[in-house]
Amino acid sequence: MEDIYILGIESSCDDTSAAVLRNGYLLSNVTASQSVHEAYGGVVPELASRAHQQNIVPVVDQALKRAGIAKEQLSAIAFTRGPGLMGSLLVGVSFAKGFARGLGIPMIDVNHLQGHVLAHFIKEENEDAHHPPFPFICLLVSGGNSQIIKMNSYKDMEILGQTIDDAAGEAIDKCAKVMGLGYPGGPIIDKLARQGNPDAYQFAKPNIAGYDYSFSGVKTSFLYSLRDWMKEDPDFISHHMNDLAASFEKTVVDILMKKLIKAVKDTGINDVAVAGGVSANNGLRNAFRDAEKRYGWNIYIPKFSYTTDNAAMIGITGYFKYLDHDFIDIDAPAYARQER
Ligand code: KG4
Repeated sequence: MEDIYILGIESSCDDTSAAVLRNGYLLSNVTASQSVHEAYGGVVPELASRAHQQNIVPVVDQALKRAGIAKEQLSAIAFTRGPGLMGSLLVGVSFAKGFARGLGIPMIDVNHLQGHVLAHFIKEENEDAHHPPFPFICLLVSGGNSQIIKMNSYKDMEILGQTIDDAAGEAIDKCAKVMGLGYPGGPIIDKLARQGNPDAYQFAKPNIAGYDYSFSGVKTSFLYSLRDWMKEDPDFISHHMNDLAASFEKTVVDILMKKLIKAVKDTGINDVAVAGGVSANNGLRNAFRDAEKRYGWNIYIPKFSYTTDNAAMIGITGYFKYLDHDFIDIDAPAYARQER
């Protein structure tokens, strides 16, 4: 049988990434991150689009070189079609369509969120596969989304619950910003939290029905508490940095785990995965390990390199769709938002 080579392209936010897979095995994964946003404390969409324009050709070129293949060997091109920032998506989508049309090969559209979940199926050659069996429950937590998903098959994603306002990563980033820390705040909070007392402070937790989440209340509670404490001590933040980080992180992890535990119990599905940028968080990873011991879950935690945005996850999703001959026409537009 002829080898199947898939080029994956990801450009939904502030990472330009390209990956090459052979028969579902990862050969290369190249990512250019954009430091331009650090000075603004968040992603500036117009600057992100411009950086994608600069990065896309060299990143794809590198991915092909590192994979050791010529572009003519590609079987199909998979790309993130949405959700994400429209200007960012358009760069990857337009490039992928033009490249595929030029080579005369099929185009495969990939949902960014599905990509994050299927990151669990990325494998390199000679690597033992350790992926969850279907159906499994996945907690998807990133800067733009917080969802509990029942994965019935690679393409059947049943969303059991999701945030009704902010995403978990967004809330963490905003609190880091209030504390005067850099962007993105998630990894910084994670590091500080390791040296702090998670029970030093309490913040309000939401009371939402079902499996949905809300993070805007805890963010406001953090803000108001800080304002009160700073009336007594204007340097409160620097005096209590580690404890604040640890306590806020614990609150977010507790909120995430409470609904997840309920979903696992109610569905009776014990295979539980975590995905998305916030799955890099040590507090959340430890909470998963605790749940494994306490509730007998089989847990699936991704490699650090596949937690944040990357094209390997787009490539593996594209590979599954390729096997199903699930291709797309050139007129399929990018989409910024995902309908529930
Ligand atoms: O998945 P991702 O790269 O982009 C989206 O698709 O949104 O996730 C980015 C989010 C940011 O909010 C970032 O602060 C958060 O993931 N993040 C973390 C950690 N690493 C990244 N949050 C907490 N702890 C971390 N170690």
